[in-house]
Amino acid sequence: MNNDILKVLYSEEDIAAACKRLGTQLTEDYKDKTPLIICVLKGAILFMTDVIRDMDIYATIDFIDVSSYNGGTASSGTIRLLKDLDTDVAGRDILLVEDIIDTGRTLKYLEDLLKDRHANSIKVCTLMDKPSGRVVEAKADYVGFNVPSEFVVGYGLDYEEKYRNLPYVGVLKPSVYSDK
Ligand code: XMP
Ligand code: MG
Repeated sequence: MNNDILKVLYSEEDIAAACKRLGTQLTEDYKDKTPLIICVLKGAILFMTDVIRDMDIYATIDFIDVSSYNGGTASSGTIRLLKDLDTDVAGRDILLVEDIIDTGRTLKYLEDLLKDRHANSIKVCTLMDKPSGRVVEAKADYVGFNVPSEFVVGYGLDYEEKYRNLPYVGVLKPSVYSDK
């Protein structure tokens, strides 16, 4: 699997440092609240489990799964809700944890859903932000890394459901796509 990687963008050490930095800020910002931390499956699972360990606050967690990609490298434009939350969000302070914000469609969909359900506040923490990919307006409050317009895999992010278990974020060799 590691042989398929052209270059490492963010190493394990880079990611750990970003989690520390964000965790410290989130600890300060949420010290008087008990937020509901929502992990957007599947891509954010590694990031969420790491960053919450750097947050010294009371919080509850839940998971939601949405899909816009259908396994490839280009967004399909339509968001589907694959798995809903178990928690009632009415009146809750929500921290959405995302792997990457690209077109912004997923985030817009989730924010609209949470607003419809009367969340008290909604903030967004993303490991990566790809501002060059925006199609709809969407803004993250906490960002690990601003990434160039490349398709990235690893540390939760996939290509055709693989590479999620890489401990770092990298770019695949072109041959991985062309061999298909
Ligand atoms: P949108 O376009 O809705 O995208 O902002 C958000 C979701 O799209 C996926 N995504 C990627 N997945 N490498 C991936 O493995 C990428 O470079 C990439 N860009 C977007 C991701 O699931 C994210 O939650
Ligand atoms: Mg995702």
